[in-house]
Formats: sequence, structure tokens, C-alpha cells
Amino acid sequence: MASRGLNRETALTTLLICPDKELGAQVGKALAEPRVFELLSDLRSYPQTSTLEIRLRQIQPEVVLVDLATDLNAALEVVRIIAGCQPPIQVVGVHHLNDASILLQSLRAGACDFLCAPFASDAQREAAARIRRLRQPEGGEHQDHGKVIVFTSTKPGSGASTLATQAAFALRRATGQKILLADFDIMAGSIAFNLKLNPTYSLLDAVERSESLDPATWASLTVSANGIDVLAAPESAQSEQIETSRIHDVIECARALYDWVVVDLPTVFHPLSLFALSEADRSFLVSTCELPSLHLGRRAVGLLSQLGFEQERCQMLVNRFGKRDNITIVDMEKIFGCPVAATFPNDYYALHKVVTRAEPLPAECELGKAISRISGMVAGLAQRDNKPAGNLLETRPVLSES
Ligand SMILES: Nc1ncnc2c1ncn2[C@@H]1O[C@H](COP(=O)(O)OP(=O)(O)O)[C@@H](O)[C@H]1O
Ligand SMILES: [Mg+2]
Repeated sequence: MASRGLNRETALTTLLICPDKELGAQVGKALAEPRVFELLSDLRSYPQTSTLEIRLRQIQPEVVLVDLATDLNAALEVVRIIAGCQPPIQVVGVHHLNDASILLQSLRAGACDFLCAPFASDAQREAAARIRRLRQPEGGEHQDHGKVIVFTSTKPGSGASTLATQAAFALRRATGQKILLADFDIMAGSIAFNLKLNPTYSLLDAVERSESLDPATWASLTVSANGIDVLAAPESAQSEQIETSRIHDVIECARALYDWVVVDLPTVFHPLSLFALSEADRSFLVSTCELPSLHLGRRAVGLLSQLGFEQERCQMLVNRFGKRDNITIVDMEKIFGCPVAATFPNDYYALHKVVTRAEPLPAECELGKAISRISGMVAGLAQRDNKPAGNLLETRPVLSES
């Protein structure tokens, strides 16, 4: 991301999607000269929707150049997806030939411009100037935005919802700030049930109103529980995919209204989880030390690395871990292929009590202490505990090289 620095004022940050190798090389070479488009990255195949959305969030280009020559239908689909993104990203079709019919089809799909070989410097400059005019003036973007912390799991039942809920309460306790706990588990959301809430509305209502969310609407969609606001998951399981641009809008609205947005997700392999991870400031992947969980943890680490997730933003947590477990942290790290950031003890009774009473876990029990430590770490609070090691091993990312 640092490479975006110098030319940002003048050059438009650009992603190239170009399965045609020759065309890609020609475009790359041509862009180097006027430098009005600064190439951040290139994809050598037309990506699937979910991969594309994740890559766009990671790279955050201002412009995407799409090869229209290799497979026009696939290219137009990519153009359509990018053109529907929020915040807007401009798409420019590229081709060997100046073909009017292809140009027209790409504009209809949502491209804002078209460049063809030999990609003359003047044509590039004109396109860049048009794109700059199309882009909204950037003033007023600098608001104080809340941070988004997501919890996902390697396997259902690992404890992601428990840790997300208790981390939200602990964050409230530690910071006194405005906290939203959002249940994005559209298949099996359990937070409202566990907290004995009776929400009228759910995430789906927020998604439906995503284009017109304001503080008053938002207040009617959430319910409060022990000092935090909760956006519940839908009552019945949703098998249909939710448009990610709408999820983005909901997250952005929440960021504007809260200091901390704690999101509970389905397992990491769900497309919604991968999308939310790409939006988050900090992500936690929760596993247990049981063999199937460890195995899926390893698979998850591979997937995240393959999708190019930034190393610093995702950390592995091992829940329900105790001395009696026949495995060490070092062993687990070897299996995962990444460090374990923190462990949490098994404490069935403490959790049973708080779930029965719909209360936050007391900060004094061992599990409560471990959760407070991780929340303190998230909040960037100095850990003044006289026993610094405890359950919090280190703030080590899932994807760092161990
Ligand atoms: N540290 C823990 N000790 C004891 N029970 C736990 C612990 N963490 C979670 N649980 C229990 O495990 C079950 C599954 O937890 P949950 O948070 O719903 O998992 P997930 O959201 O990953 O599916 C719940 O009954 C919860 O109370
Ligand atoms: Mg859950």
C-alpha cells in the first residue's frame, strides 16, 4: 500500500485485469510513459465476483483497466461488478482494436472510457482528465470513523459469537465509548437469543435500507443490551447471498455512528465473512484445539494468504484451551502455519451463568480476564496488568511468517 504515495496527486491508482499477456505487456509499457495511471497490481484472469470484490477492497484502485479482447462476456461482467462498487471505481476497457461495437457494449456495462492500441500518451491523458472530472471532489471525507473488529471461526461452535459478544462488552467497559455488536451470521445468528433480546429488525432491514440509513433509522433497527447496541441477525436462516455493496454501506454507516463496530461472522469460508474481513480494521479467527478445528484452521490460513489478505490484520485465537489438552501452542502454530495470538480457557459454568442472565462475563474470571486483554489490545490500551503474558501470547498476525 505504501507504493501509492508519491504520484497520488497526479496519477490515478490503477488495477489492470488482463488475461491477454501480450495486451497486458503493451498496456504496462504504454502506461509507464505519461504516468497518468499508476499501476498498483494486475490480475491475469477474469476474477470471480467474490475474489474481485476482495481484491478491490485490498488494492483500492481509483481506476480499473479491463481487457475486453480475451472474453468479451466475462469482461463485461467484470465491468458491471466494478461499476456497481461503492465508493465508485472508474472502469476503462482496453483492446487491441478500436472496435465501436465493443466500445459501446463496455460503456453500456458501466465503463467510463475505452483505450485501444497503441495506447497513445495523449489518449491516456484525456481519459485520465475525464476520470478526474467524474470523480467526486474529495472534500469532506475526513470524518472520525469507528473501527471495525470482526470475529470469524474455523468451524461452527468454536466460540466466535461468544468472544465477539464478550469482547464488545469488554470494549465498552474499557473505553466507555459507543459500541455496536452486529450479528452478520445470516445462517445461524445467535446473539439476540443469547442476550435474550427481542429485536423487531435485523441486519436484513439495515441491508434493505442501506441507501438511506440515517441515525434515526439506525436507532430503530438496533436494540440495546448492557450499554451496547446490537444489530441482530435475521430470525430465519438466509441462504441467499447479500449484495456486498450493501453490506459495505451498512458497515460504513455503523462506522460513522459508533466508535467500535464488533461484527460476528459465520465461518471464515463463507463469502460474507471473507468480504467482511476485507472491510475490517482487525480480524480474529477463532479455533479450538480439537483436530478438525486445527485442520480447518490450517486450510483457512492458506485461503487467506491465497486471497492476499494483509498480514497485520488477522489474528488466530484458540478458544477452550487448557493445560489438560494434549497439545502445545507451538504444535498448534505448526499445524496452522501461523502464530496463535491468544488463548481462552474453557469455562462452561461462567458462560452458562451469563447466558442464563443475559449479562456480560465478569472481568474477574479467567475467561473474562483473557477477553479483557484482547479487548484492551484492540483498543490500544496499555496493558498495565502485572502479569503481562497470561493468555495473551503476543499480538501476532495469522499470516506472518513464523
Ligand atoms: N471458552 C469457552 N468455554 C466454554 N464454553 C464455551 C467457550 N466459548 C464458547 N463456548 C460455548 O460453545 C458454544 C458455541 O459457541 P459460539 O460462540 O456460539 O460458537 P460459534 O459462534 O463459533 O459457532 C456455546 O454454547 C458457547 O457457550
Ligand atoms: Mg456464531
